[in-house]
Amino acid sequence: MIKKGLSYDDTLLVPQYSDIRSRSEIDLSVNMGNGLYLTLPMLSAPMDTVTESDMAISMCNHGGAGIIHRYNTMEQQEKLIFDAAGTGVASLGAALGVSGDYLERAHMARSVGANFVCIDVAHGHHIMVKEALRHLRMLLGDNFHIMAGNIATLKGLNDLSDWGANSVKVGIGGGAICSTRIQTGHGVPGLQSVIDCAKTDRDVKIIADGGIKNSGDIVKALALGADAVMCGSLLAGTAESPGEIKMDSDGNSWKVYRGMASKEAQIDWRGKYSSLEGVSSQIPYRGDVAEVINDLERGIRSGLSYAGARNLAQLHSKAQMMTQTVSGLAESRTHITNRKW
Ligand code: XMP
Repeated sequence: MIKKGLSYDDTLLVPQYSDIRSRSEIDLSVNMGNGLYLTLPMLSAPMDTVTESDMAISMCNHGGAGIIHRYNTMEQQEKLIFDAAGTGVASLGAALGVSGDYLERAHMARSVGANFVCIDVAHGHHIMVKEALRHLRMLLGDNFHIMAGNIATLKGLNDLSDWGANSVKVGIGGGAICSTRIQTGHGVPGLQSVIDCAKTDRDVKIIADGGIKNSGDIVKALALGADAVMCGSLLAGTAESPGEIKMDSDGNSWKVYRGMASKEAQIDWRGKYSSLEGVSSQIPYRGDVAEVINDLERGIRSGLSYAGARNLAQLHSKAQMMTQTVSGLAESRTHITNRKW
């Protein structure tokens, strides 16, 4: 039987009775395990147009986490981690690959002040991730949080957990700048991966990654089994994202947001390109990321209020999902401008 896969826009959460009088009664905290604790279940993606020191500091200061990307030399990554860890943040991550100098980077990251490391590769359900997790555990010991990904299936999640990961990035090919599914034919609709992975019996946290477009999608991911979400496009194009602010001939300002497997990104970080599984794009400049994060947080709190949930565990247990039709989706979006009067 061919399985059906649901994506964010295919679903809605059914509103529930609520006795929450104020959104301030809602607790968004999550213990990700092994020393990583968040009061806002959001992480910024380890991409070179999303997370360097400024973004990481802002994310951590808002209760989320920031992961310094690995598309640089070890010395450059060290400086970025050092600049963020000086400010005393408690949820700073450092991204790692699974070959070359990744063990040296892990050692450096912990020494300079990273609170956790994140194996960040396109296909995480892979023998090289298994080997890297084994080596990282030996290097970092049992009491250091190791995140790894990306995977798209329950088997992938369980294997990474058994291999030593405390949390796993779930999602293949759903990101705003991803072309993996077109290029390779592989992937699973983002929300479906979360729904499948939520059936795990392992002690592992799920991070929904890729394709999250708004706070509604964040609430859906958290309701259906994610412990936290990772965002790229939602946070790019801000003052704290790396890269210059550019202006077009109409006076609109924008920044580059690009997939790390795009031609442009690959040429910049390794001087050549191989398989192209991402694109480079321009997104409107939106000012300080604090405003963006605060808007998202307000939306998430409101979402929990509609579910009658005071915390993320209640959201997960109370949530009732339904699928919607294409007409339902059209009705869900603002549609006044399309109406013929
Ligand atoms: P959003 O939708 O939040 O997605 O912008 C961010 C996530 O996309 C992943 N990523 C990629 N996936 N090709 C891919 O298929 C790429 O070039 C690429 N770059 C980033 C990554 O998981 C990130 O968190």
